[in-house]
Amino acid sequence: MEEISQDLLKKFKAPAYPESFLLSFEGIEGAGKSTQLLKLKKFLEEKNFRVLILREPGGTPFGEKLRSAILNTKTPIHPLAEVYLFTASRVQLLDEVTLKELNVPNTVIIYDRYIDSTLAYQGMGRDLGVKTILEIHQNPPLNLIPHLTFYLKISLDTSLERQEKRNQDRDYFESQGRDFYQKLIDGYDMASELFSERIIVLDGEKDEGQVADDIKGHVNQLILK
Ligand SMILES: Nc1ncnc2c1ncn2[C@@H]1O[C@H](COP(=O)(O)OP(=O)(O)OP(=O)(O)O)[C@@H](O)[C@H]1O
Ligand SMILES: [Mg+2]
Repeated sequence: MEEISQDLLKKFKAPAYPESFLLSFEGIEGAGKSTQLLKLKKFLEEKNFRVLILREPGGTPFGEKLRSAILNTKTPIHPLAEVYLFTASRVQLLDEVTLKELNVPNTVIIYDRYIDSTLAYQGMGRDLGVKTILEIHQNPPLNLIPHLTFYLKISLDTSLERQEKRNQDRDYFESQGRDFYQKLIDGYDMASELFSERIIVLDGEKDEGQVADDIKGHVNQLILK
């Protein structure tokens, strides 16, 4: 495993707003992120939180342009170009939306994929290295990390099975081979070790309801603190 210094890790901070929370969902395609995210949204709204779901790249006018550039490319783009495009979209979203909305008390912002996807996809998948990705993110506002991240861990076979069931056109990332997916899983494992307090690893192969209950338990601990 790559050596990552504590000094670098210490640059990353959760939001300082006392009455609002930042969460993220992570995992490879078909892990159950969208499924669990919607369940959690409902749960939090019943507790009278204002819940916003954000997805990257995108979420701002400029970010949406970057999103279509990245996801619809028919020709390969350099891994560094890829990471800088994602990061540009991330900065805009943090500045235009996330930081402002977190300032409103009783808000929960849930990202459908965030920094750990960049660590897994560009850091490991595209071989840039996890350290490079962390270094790119070390200054504000990019050093903002969630209070809690739910990594829904599934095997490559489960991912492929669920993708097949959905039977959608495979996008840019989904058309990669098995080796690429294994790298993503390795990347998520590494992120989970580096940020062991923030990232909750959940067995995404379990029944949907069971996974949802685990998530609610962790969220209750956070919001009742
Ligand atoms: N725990 C589970 N057990 C079995 N099937 C599940 C479970 N969670 C989700 N699914 C099913 O797997 C498929 C993918 O789920 P979902 O869309 O939530 O994944 P995702 O992580 O958001 O995927 P993507 O990265 O492609 O957006 C859906 O058909 C969903 O109903
Ligand atoms: Mg999804």
